[in-house]
Amino acid sequence: MEKDIQKKIDELLSKMTLREKIGQLNQPETPTADKIEEFKDMVRKGEVGSILMSCGATAGNDAQGAINVEFYNKLQRIAVEESPNGIPILFGRDVIHGHNTVFPIPLAMTASFNEELIEKSFMDIAKEASNDSIHWTFTPMLDLARDPRWGRIIEGPGEDPYLGARVAVAAVRGLQGNNVSDKDKILACAKHYIGYGASEGGRDYHRTEITDYSLFNYYLPAFKGAVDAGALTVMSSFNDVSGQPVTSSRYYLTEILRNKLGFMGFVVSDYDAVSQLKKQGVAQDEEDCADMSLSAGLDMDMHDSVYLNNLEKSVKEKRISEDIIDTAVRRVLYVKFKKGLFDNPYCEKKEINRISHFEDALKMAEESIVLLKNDNGLLPLKKDKKVGLVGPFVHERRSLLGSWTLDGKESETRNIYEAMREKAPGKIEGITGVGLGWDSSVRCMFESDVVVLCLGESWTATGEHRAVSDISLTDDQKMLIKKAKQTGKKTVGVLFCGRPIEMQGIADNFDALILAWHGGNMCADAVANIIYGDCVPSGRMPMTAVRKATHIPLYYNVTSSGRPVNCYYGENAGDCYVDSLATPYYPFGYGLSYTEFRYSDIRCDNPQLSVDNIKNGKKFILSVDVENIGEYNSKETVQLYINDKVASMMRPIKELKGFKKILINKGEKVSVKFELGYEELGFYLSNGEYTVEPGEFSVYIGKNSLTNRSITIKII
Ligand code: NOJ
Repeated sequence: MEKDIQKKIDELLSKMTLREKIGQLNQPETPTADKIEEFKDMVRKGEVGSILMSCGATAGNDAQGAINVEFYNKLQRIAVEESPNGIPILFGRDVIHGHNTVFPIPLAMTASFNEELIEKSFMDIAKEASNDSIHWTFTPMLDLARDPRWGRIIEGPGEDPYLGARVAVAAVRGLQGNNVSDKDKILACAKHYIGYGASEGGRDYHRTEITDYSLFNYYLPAFKGAVDAGALTVMSSFNDVSGQPVTSSRYYLTEILRNKLGFMGFVVSDYDAVSQLKKQGVAQDEEDCADMSLSAGLDMDMHDSVYLNNLEKSVKEKRISEDIIDTAVRRVLYVKFKKGLFDNPYCEKKEINRISHFEDALKMAEESIVLLKNDNGLLPLKKDKKVGLVGPFVHERRSLLGSWTLDGKESETRNIYEAMREKAPGKIEGITGVGLGWDSSVRCMFESDVVVLCLGESWTATGEHRAVSDISLTDDQKMLIKKAKQTGKKTVGVLFCGRPIEMQGIADNFDALILAWHGGNMCADAVANIIYGDCVPSGRMPMTAVRKATHIPLYYNVTSSGRPVNCYYGENAGDCYVDSLATPYYPFGYGLSYTEFRYSDIRCDNPQLSVDNIKNGKKFILSVDVENIGEYNSKETVQLYINDKVASMMRPIKELKGFKKILINKGEKVSVKFELGYEELGFYLSNGEYTVEPGEFSVYIGKNSLTNRSITIKII
């Protein structure tokens, strides 16, 4: 900790009563109108360390009131001028993928494989949020997840730890910048620590079973990325890991997060998670809940006021020492000083020109879109073709924004009909109808040159507390696909989804298929640009798209069974289940372009290095030539995977360890270089020790996780 900050904290602490100290660990939500006076009194007494501005247990599902800056400034003035030590309040709100300007859902942002764009998006987000009194947001969500039934899959970076870590770094940098005390920066919160994405059956909040080996190698890397990038807060998760609720786990919150990852900021609980320990059956009463969580290393209590109501008694009865409270308070004050709250407690709202934010949101939406299928180059469409735009999403706006859109506006979101019509005036007929509207839909299809079916899932089928057991399209939508097929017209499918849906029986029926996600304010414009070739698609799957939901979990970085059956990579894949083929429909890293890229063989000038060399920072240097042999300038995401052939523990068949997204103009050939060293070639043993072992590695460089082009390197 910086000496000057430490000194200020010491001074403050020496003046604070126990009650005020506990107040710093208390995060109530914004009061309802009838409770405001009572709330002001709490602020006056120093009992409010932070305010949760996203109200309700599942805030992302409910309409939230717009932020009243004046109201928050008034509360802040009470804290600064009337509370005993004038400590400002930290205002926190869920700004998950956009504040006023809505960007694509985080899973889609990840699909862009474009860290600079992700960072830029979060800079815009921080700028808007900070202008609305927000100091702190509960983003990025970094839960590795392999089950698309889980509604919260939309909020995270998908199935890969390496990609998750790189996205984490980009998001934290964008939000916090180099100096989080700058007025247009806000504090990041890496959540939900840890293992939340592994909830059994994709059922939200359910138990998880995670060995330490998996924890270190799969679930922690994204959090390590965020901590290394300087994230100043972490949110603990609701779930238990193998019988230990994270909320009360000293092992996860202190031994691993602080002692191993070196986290310096404070940990906030999830909503009511402290009192939840009773229901989880590890605490007798609220006193127990408070004692257990605080002792475990959980510093701030979100919403349930269990700390505020119980910790004084715990100290008086000597169940908790005041030192433990001081430690937590120090962490909270440290973050407040880092944020510059003592110097700038108030929000001076100004007009923000959001034009560049919408431009960035458009770029982000375009780069997140994944072209899944394009038979015979159906796309891009010529603008003189008559398009029958049909399906329940033709006029839809709200779902395009996605879940956790607390401050975005439908009125700032065009629907796909409007966006397409602008591109090709007079050539688009748009029909929403299914059910009663069948006739008009079918007529519209017959009268068109090309059918574009706009399908997907509602935003209400995604997000918190919204797991689904069926990740296919509705029967109505399937019927529409069937009817389109019967017309014999060339058909493009556009999927507005929060998750990769079940593909069998759906993707097979289209000539071209676009995964547009819930892509934010500019989603429809991005799709129209892609359909007409004003933008060349470049998104890649951040998680596997399964043929059938019954194949879940299916993820690429799996270990070998050692037997001659391999679901993911195709070896006797028909034997995985006797009744269905369980290879991925679209694998991790997959996505098409309008152009073609030709890869050369992989080169490595130094294919052998010793363990000592590697530990001392030497790296394998690998390269590949990638040539654009098609008709369009386009970005390509060159992906590098490794396989540690023989190790002391089983290692994945493939693990992503590098990617580069680069623009390659048509006819151009570029040499793409990668370096592999200590950080990429080792792994964690079950005790958390990181090891780089001698032996051979296959290194694959190609278009997606199924690439076979490889070279062998050796550590001696
Ligand atoms: C519960 C959610 O799990 C978490 O992600 C969110 O940040 C908090 N509620 C606050 O709204």
